[in-house]
Amino acid sequence: MGFTRVCSLDDLWEGEMETFEVDGHEILIVHAEGGYVQAVQGICPHQEIPLEEGSLQGSTLTCRAHLWQFDVKSGEGVNPTGCKLAVYASEVRGDDVYVDVASAKPFYSAA
Ligand code: FES
Repeated sequence: MGFTRVCSLDDLWEGEMETFEVDGHEILIVHAEGGYVQAVQGICPHQEIPLEEGSLQGSTLTCRAHLWQFDVKSGEGVNPTGCKLAVYASEVRGDDVYVDVASAKPFYSAA
């Protein structure tokens, strides 16, 4: 399928994150401090809460529901460990963010 344009960084400032639906996938675009841009699954792997309702500090994303924390750079769970966010291939071209939604599959726990 390849890369699809998702949004512009004009609309998503540093320190912000927003979910976009791309070809039926909920993709969270994170524009972390320092200008780092990452595309991760938009739904928490714990109990399927939208992650954009959480908070972002540096590269640490905290889910609002039970405060699970993830490093958006790697997708790895920080607290607790052993959980993970899917990280999608993404590119910034000019001010536009492109994501390959076929490049990853979201993780969900049975909890
Ligand atoms: S639903 Fe996100 S931590 Fe529980």
